[in-house]
Parts: sequence; C-alpha cells; structure tokens
Amino acid sequence: MTQIQGIAQPPATSAPALEARGLTKHFPVHGAGGARGANGARGTGGARGTGGAREADGARGANGARGAGGARGAGGARGAGGARGFRARARQGDLWRPARAGGPGGAVVHAVENVSLSLAAGQITAVVGESGSGKSTLARLLARLVRPTSGTLLLDGSPVPPGGRGRRGYARQVQLVLQDPFASLNPVHDVRYHLARPLQVHGLAEPGASIDETITGLLERVALTPADQFIGKYPHELSGGQRQRVAIARALAVQPRVLLADEPVSMLDVSIRLGVLNLLGGLRDTERLAILYITHDIASARYLADTIMVMYAGQVVESGPAEVVTDRPEHPYTQLLLSAAPDPERAGQPERPALGSRGAPPSLVTPPPGCRFHPRCPRAMAICAEAAPPAFDVAEGHQSACWLHAADLDAEQAGPIAGRKASQGPAQAPGQGEETH
Ligand SMILES: Nc1ncnc2c1ncn2[C@@H]1O[C@H](COP(=O)(O)OP(=O)(O)O)[C@@H](O)[C@H]1O
Ligand code: SF4
Ligand SMILES: [Mg+2]
Repeated sequence: MTQIQGIAQPPATSAPALEARGLTKHFPVHGAGGARGANGARGTGGARGTGGAREADGARGANGARGAGGARGAGGARGAGGARGFRARARQGDLWRPARAGGPGGAVVHAVENVSLSLAAGQITAVVGESGSGKSTLARLLARLVRPTSGTLLLDGSPVPPGGRGRRGYARQVQLVLQDPFASLNPVHDVRYHLARPLQVHGLAEPGASIDETITGLLERVALTPADQFIGKYPHELSGGQRQRVAIARALAVQPRVLLADEPVSMLDVSIRLGVLNLLGGLRDTERLAILYITHDIASARYLADTIMVMYAGQVVESGPAEVVTDRPEHPYTQLLLSAAPDPERAGQPERPALGSRGAPPSLVTPPPGCRFHPRCPRAMAICAEAAPPAFDVAEGHQSACWLHAADLDAEQAGPIAGRKASQGPAQAPGQGEETH
C-alpha cells in the first residue's frame, strides 16, 4: 500500500479537458467575531448566516451567468431566487480581486481544500458529499465564478490565466448548470430568449440557419420535442424537469466541452430525475462531453458516474472508479454515506449505523484538527485527532485519506482518543469545543 501526498482522482483514460490542481477556497468571514450560519457561513441561496461570509457569488460569468448565489442565468436573466436578500453588488471585477485576509482575526471558511481532479471527454466524475461539504464552491471554482485562494486550473493542459482574462473563451468551453431550474431561468422570458441569448453573446448562430433552427436543434438534443411546442413557452409553463432541460440546452448552446452540473436533479420530482440523469449520460456517450456531476446522493452517483470523489468538510476523502467506491468503500465516511443510501438488496437486513445519528458536519471556520471526520467517526483513533491523514492508494486508481490504511501506527497512535472509547460516538457535538487550526 503506497502512501501518497494529497488525494487525486485516478488517471483518466483520455487527456483531461479540464484539470484542477490543489484548488483551495477560503472565504473571508465578515461580521461579529466570525459568527456563522449553519455550517460556518452561508449556503448557496444568497442569504447570509449571522455575521456570515460572502464573496463574489453574485458576479457574472462570461455569458452573463451568475454564480449559484446570484441566479442570473446564461441569458442574462435574473431568476426568481435571484439577487433578493443578497447584498453584495455584482461587479465583474469582484470575481478576481486579490485575496483578503479574512474577517476578524483573519477568520475564513475553509470551503474547499487542496482538491485536484481531471475531467476527460466521455467521462462523468461525480462529487458526492453532505450539504456544506464544498461541492458548489468547487463547481464555482471550476467555472471561474469565484477566485481560488490557491491552486491552478488547466484547460487542455494549458494553465488558465488568472484574473478575468479570457473568461468568455473559457465559458465557451466550460459551462455550469445550477441546481434550481426555477432560479436559473428568467420568468419573464420564453425558451426562445433563453437559448438565443448565449448564441448571440458568443456569435454562434449557425451560418445560413435561422436562430430558431439552431434553437430547435438544441431542444431536440435535450429531448424537448416537438421543439415548436416548447420554444415559445415561459418557465412557469414548464415542469421542473423541462426547465432543467432548458437550462442544460442553454449550457449546450455555446458548444462546451465540459459541463459542470451542480445537483441538477435534487430539486426535481423523484419520478423525473432518472430522465435528466439519462440525458447527462447520453451527452457523455454520444457527444463525448466531460461532465462533473455534483450530488449528495451516492446512489445516483453510482448509477451515472465513471468516477466518484467523496468530499467531507471541504476535502476529498476518497476517490476511485464508481463501482469500486460504492461496492468496496474504504473510508469510514463513505461507508456511512452508503449505509444511509437506499438499497433494495439490503431490504430485511439489520439497520446499519446512520450518519445522521453521529452528529452534523463540523464548522468550516474552525474545522476539527487532524482528520476533519474524527468527531463523527466510529473508528477514530488517537492519531486522528492530531494529524490530518494523507491519501493512501488502497487499490489501482482507488484512494482513501484515512489513518486506518497506515501500516506503521504505534499502540498509542492506534489507541482511543483521550476521553473517548474506541468505538464510541462523538465525544462532543462536532465543531464545538474543538481545538482550531
Ligand atoms: N460566498 C460564500 N461566502 C462564504 N462562505 C460560503 C460562500 N459560499 C459557500 N460558503 C460556505 O462554504 C461551505 C461550503 O459550501 P458549499 O460549497 O455551498 O457546499 P455544498 O454545495 O457541498 O453544500 C459552507 O460552509 C458554506 O456556508
Ligand atoms: S482518519 Fe481516523 S477519524 Fe478519519 S476517517 Fe480514518 S479512522 Fe476515522
Ligand atoms: Mg451545493
């Protein structure tokens, strides 16, 4: 078993279209004493937690697309969940301003830490984790909607220039589809407008073809047929699944090679989720798109993805081929995530320990020292509370960042955490009273 530095995705079979190396994002905490919302700051909806933190989520991408918080769609449309309650003023320059030190005392939200991945044509990579684990921030970093604290992006092997330079060209290659199809489509514009806008912005209306023909082609690609029944419709006249298909068609309009889909089905009715997942699978197989599929549902990741990366509290804790990670999970967090996922094959068998009963994810302003999962981990050892585990190669292309894979721990390191028996639950509520680092 080899010990390696930093967890990374297994090598893709073809050259990656988009690669991230050591991406890290620390949001400065503003307000009284770095107080926090649910997980240390605010979620993606735009509203801040008490004294929470914010950065340039509201700023726009090259298509006029806002980040998850801002909800200005690619067509420049402001969605229902838009900038209401979001006090940051969206300015183009906000995106890549020099780093600020943080809030009072330099407090920051450790939203994403040292994440490396590569997205290759014809492959779906799933990023799985609970709410607040940094998935959306990762997507926004990859879409260049927020500026990384450190780390680099490579498009076709070439470093992406820092700053706003080349953002429009980048957006043509890398498109982001957001979770909430209500918020990402403008209720006052019809489907034609939403799909025509990126074509016009990027000068992509096909020569010789009317824009309507191009739009019809896009609607057909996302199985909204017959297209003429959808082209004049407004968002409120469409189902959630149809709206998400329009959002995907809008992303496809600029002929991207990489699609970042942030929880694209989690707000949809269960009955229509499969159709949208299959659409993504079709785009991978027939159009060879490189797709990042973000989800909190590991079962859907197994269904759709080639590779799974599991995130916990801003860090990747396990990665590998989707079937291997789900059939033979090595990291205790992945094991607990899977035990919470519905599995018909386990019907009638005794209940497995649930993740929820082991407390909530930690504060990302003051994450636990050592392994961030240790306050909830049923197998935590003394070393886990002190040192962050490196990533271990546990099998071909399969990595897990957990001290259980270390062969050379001494008895003290492998013993129980002081004041806590080895198989006991959390010694205290996660994120409370922990040492900070
Ligand atoms: N703009 C922001 N400013 C400050 N903190 C943020 C911002 N966006 C996200 N966060 C925080 O970063 C952490 C990760 O959030 P997020 O990436 O949305 O997680 P997920 O998508 O996995 O639910 C959370 O603690 C969240 O509150
Ligand atoms: S390093 Fe320790 S606390 Fe973290 S997952 Fe492994 S056993 Fe659990
Ligand atoms: Mg999210």
